Formats: sequence, structure tokens, C-alpha cells
Amino acid sequence: MILYRHAKLSDVEEIIKLINQYAEKGLMLPRTRSALYEGIREFVVAVEDEQLIGAGSLHIIWEDLAEIRTLAVEQNHQGKGIGRKIVEILLHEAMQLHCPKVFTLTYQVDFFIHMGFELVDKEKMPQKVWKDCIHCVKFPNCDENAMIYNFG
Ligand SMILES: CC(C)(COP(=O)(O)OP(=O)(O)OC[C@H]1O[C@@H](n2cnc3c(N)ncnc32)[C@H](O)[C@@H]1OP(=O)(O)O)[C@@H](O)C(=O)NCCC(=O)NCCS
Repeated sequence: MILYRHAKLSDVEEIIKLINQYAEKGLMLPRTRSALYEGIREFVVAVEDEQLIGAGSLHIIWEDLAEIRTLAVEQNHQGKGIGRKIVEILLHEAMQLHCPKVFTLTYQVDFFIHMGFELVDKEKMPQKVWKDCIHCVKFPNCDENAMIYNFG
């Protein structure tokens, strides 16, 4: 049985391992250990037989905007609805906070379209969104797609 729960500090090393296998292939952005510890309360993880098999986080940007970040599912567990479940939990958390919009920067456009997100023009996203981008290895040449989910 797969358990979905908030992350603990002891999950950080496994989250790094999960992210790094995709970051090395350029499929997602690497995160520093420091950023993960600081943001650990934002994470939801999927666990099966005490193994971490998925993770994703919800980061609040502003009064009306949050971001889904660092979403990943172990390769041999993909296609079983785990990514969907993590996104649904994060969207539910945004709704509980009365946050009307959730965006993501991603290469996985088709997956997020399945989740009800729409592509948006990156230029139209508010400045606040780009605050952390200076730490990104790709800055200033971001090639990710901006996608948004509107409650309503
Ligand atoms: C993207 C990712 C998180 C999806 O997780 P997953 O558990 O495999 O996805 P799910 O099984 O929950 O799929 C949910 C739905 O999206 C669809 N889907 C999943 N991945 C898809 C893809 N790459 N393209 C199109 N549709 C996709 C599924 O068919 C499913 O549709 P359904 O519910 O209508 O049957 C996972 O593939 C992953 O970790 N990829 C590598 C890391 C990455 O790119 N992360 C995104 C960073 S923003």
C-alpha cells in the first residue's frame, strides 16, 4: 500500500537521490540540500514498504499564487497514478489556503495538462515568480514551460 504523508527531515537524503537521477538527465532542476531542509515542510512524499517513491512540494509565492516544485516519481513506479495523487494533495493544500492559482515550471507539459493545468506565457507571470531563478543553473536561459491551474 502506498502512503502519502508530509515529509520528515529524515526523508531529505532520499528526496535528493530521487531528484538527482532526473536532474542529471536534465529532466528537472537540481535542488541543494540546504534548500530541501529549508523547504521540507512544503513537501508531500509517497512511501511504499518504507521506500520513498515520490515527492512534490507546494511553495507559496504571494497572496494569490503558489508553485508546485520538485515533483518526481521513481522510474519503476511511474504510470501508477502517484504523480497525480501528489499533485492532487498539493492542489488541495493550496485550496485550503484560499490560494486561487497554482503554477509550475516544467518540461512535463502533457502530464500537467492531464492534471488540469494550462500553458501560459512566461512573460506574463509576475516578477515574484522569478525570485529564486537566479540560483538556477539555467539562469537566465530558462527553457521550462510555465503552466497554471486556476481554481474556479
Ligand atoms: C511527471 C511525473 C511526476 C508523472 O508521475 P506519474 O506517477 O508517472 O504520473 P501518473 O501515473 O500519476 O499519471 C497521471 C496522468 O498523467 C498521464 N501522464 C503521466 N506522465 C505523462 C507524460 N509524460 N505525458 C503525458 N501524459 C502523462 C498519465 O497517463 C495519467 O493519465 P490518466 O490519469 O488520465 O490515466 C513522472 O513521470 C516523473 O517523475 N518524471 C520525471 C521527473 C519530472 O520530469 N518531473 C516533473 C518536474 S516539474
